[in-house]
Amino acid sequence: MIPEGPLGKLREECDVTINTDDRFMSHEELKGAVRGKDGLISLLSDVIGPDVMDAAEGTLKIIANYAVGYNNIDVPAATKRKIPVTNTPGVLTDTTADLTWSILLSTVRRICEGDRLMRRRAFKGWTPLFMLGGDITGATLGIYGFGRIGQAVAKRAKGFGMRVIFHEEGRVPDEVARELSARAVDFETLLRESDILSIHVPLTPQTKHRFKIDELKKMKQSAYLINTARGPIVKESDLVVALRDRVIAGAGMDVYEDEPEMAPGLAELENAVLVPHLGSATIVTRLKMGNMAVENVIAAVSGRRPPNCVNPETLD
Ligand code: GLV
Ligand code: GLV
Repeated sequence: MIPEGPLGKLREECDVTINTDDRFMSHEELKGAVRGKDGLISLLSDVIGPDVMDAAEGTLKIIANYAVGYNNIDVPAATKRKIPVTNTPGVLTDTTADLTWSILLSTVRRICEGDRLMRRRAFKGWTPLFMLGGDITGATLGIYGFGRIGQAVAKRAKGFGMRVIFHEEGRVPDEVARELSARAVDFETLLRESDILSIHVPLTPQTKHRFKIDELKKMKQSAYLINTARGPIVKESDLVVALRDRVIAGAGMDVYEDEPEMAPGLAELENAVLVPHLGSATIVTRLKMGNMAVENVIAAVSGRRPPNCVNPETLD
């Protein structure tokens, strides 16, 4: 269920059917609920394919995803049916960059492992070689995907005096890179030179399993991989092997290949920091995302252009 504030606004304009439980709707429940509706607000955990779209029997005027990533929606199928799809860009950029940094710092300085150790009463006292981690200040931060979130992560790296390199398939204006003191590199260089590599690309057929064992082997043995984007970008079973065999030093993850499941063995690894998809999870950001999804729905059902349409060709 999305936050009450935005829902109230939606109720003033529309009849609203909601999943009031903070749990997933089954695919069949979703298909039943969408029948005859003008709009659908979907969560990133809802798989919206042609079957769900067709279950509406032609009434659907918008699918408003309550997330910036929209890999859960079959956008070409929506476009074919002239259904606009919207997302929530911008409002969660800083929140997600902050969470990325929380995970990054926790991973490199072994914070969660240390916390577990304290709770087990296993701290025997300070010694010179006890629980040594990596360095952050002065390290090379590699950013895979230099869009809004990747750039916000780079901005924070300045405060840590890091060298920032990035790989981005799309165009990044020179002045943006210059402003952030970040250097564009090819993917191989990113793998080879990063001390900490953070993933910020959307999940697409091209980025799925971009990190398999071969790529992890090209990274430094002392390197850390951080993923707050989408789980399937990393082949999770390969990551488990890489962490277990110390192919890389550690990983911090907010997202998983088959959420909410984890690959066998991952939870047992001390050198993995595991966070339950909290990238955008602050009170204010979730309200802003709700307001944005609701504005998109109200615009579409009242015949206006929804502001955050990802398939604008449906609006012509
Ligand atoms: C969160 O993962 C989002 O895509 O908004
Ligand atoms: C560490 O606690 C130090 O004082 O060096």
